[in-house]
Amino acid sequence: MYDNIPQFEVLPQHIGFIMDGNGRWAKMRGLERSAGHKEGAKTFRKICEYCADVGIKHMTFYAFSTENWSRPQKEVSALMKLFKEYLLEGDERTAENDIKQMRLKFIGEREGLPKDLLRLIERAEKTTAKYSHVTVNIALNYGGRAEITHAVKEIAQKVKDGELSVDDISQETVDNYIYTAGQPDPDIIVRPSGEFRLSNFLTWQSAYSEFWFSDVLWPDFTEEDVNEILFDYQKRNRRFGGV
Ligand code: IPE
Ligand code: IPE
Ligand code: MG
Repeated sequence: MYDNIPQFEVLPQHIGFIMDGNGRWAKMRGLERSAGHKEGAKTFRKICEYCADVGIKHMTFYAFSTENWSRPQKEVSALMKLFKEYLLEGDERTAENDIKQMRLKFIGEREGLPKDLLRLIERAEKTTAKYSHVTVNIALNYGGRAEITHAVKEIAQKVKDGELSVDDISQETVDNYIYTAGQPDPDIIVRPSGEFRLSNFLTWQSAYSEFWFSDVLWPDFTEEDVNEILFDYQKRNRRFGGV
């Protein structure tokens, strides 16, 4: 549990983190890219815990995109191994999730993931399903366009089966078929590493999100950076098209 958490007047309900810059972090140190991912995974644990302590109820961490399969096999394998290690932390993880009442949810395409990883994902989701205090979404094999396509297919199937009429399809219908159904949209999306793009992250959900960019590489990201984001967020004037 963190002490000395600053007082924030307004907190985002949902923060999205694009965990980018692991490769460059490693390269700067003459290390293999996988070493950067390992360090990035540590940062993920730290930031996730800190946000929970601050009182953020929903977080989404972009861990692996549908486009990341195009990376060298060696790097992809190292990443899959890290995901498994995280999920294998078993009892430790359960205790932590217990304390923080943290629910884990994996968003993204299940198809294409290694079977053993899938089993661990399902186990983690099942054991944490009872928690409702904090929801941690891990976007793995995730792509915003794939997500929307998936939703469209499911809706089309409902229409085909006569369970839904075309006239009843609304934005709320789409909301109900995306992976984050039932959760608020991200209030702010954070991208470190000096890139100014979404890279297929939360395409539907980010319509009115605020953005926060910085040059920090994800493995160097700290609780102080989170504080900076939260102080900055308080000053944003969100209008949602109004005045
Ligand atoms: C983000 O770091 C992690 C994943 C995409 C899995 P990168 O690996 O993209 O790091 P850079 O952008 O090459 O520095
Ligand atoms: C986005 O980072 C995906 C994740 C952080 C998991 P990338 O490094 O894959 O994005 P691009 O290729 O720079 O757009
Ligand atoms: Mg990158």
